[in-house]
Amino acid sequence: MSLIDTARAVRRNAHAPYSKFKVGAAIRAASGTIYAGCNVENVAYPEGTCAEAGAIAAMIAGGDTRIAEIAVIADSPKPVSPCGGCRQKIAEFADGDVEVILATTDNVVLKTTVADLLPGVFDADYMSKV
Ligand code: THU
Repeated sequence: MSLIDTARAVRRNAHAPYSKFKVGAAIRAASGTIYAGCNVENVAYPEGTCAEAGAIAAMIAGGDTRIAEIAVIADSPKPVSPCGGCRQKIAEFADGDVEVILATTDNVVLKTTVADLLPGVFDADYMSKV
């Protein structure tokens, strides 16, 4: 199954009763293992989590630490754009040249990179004097 199809499948499990906006994400880790996540909303709205965060949590729980490729899918008019917080979360575990595949459920696909999504990322280098 392609990474987009994995994201498409897990999207069906999203818990999004408030926004009605279901999102799926799939990560191919450096080991080759695929991890999936979906958004999980909460009646206390700020407690909800994004699909990307779920996939990253699954990856870390599974013992992988580096993202080799990530796909995100939603039923949006154009390929879904990860929120700022998720861009930072992805950058924690991915090099700048890692491919990010953004897709709509009707197969419009936009391929970009972690660095293009988050130029000027705050990373651990800035803390090297501490
Ligand atoms: N959402 C994601 O899960 N990932 C994105 O890239 C964009 C937004 C979720 C958060 C919330 O549950 C819903 O979509 C509407 O913002």
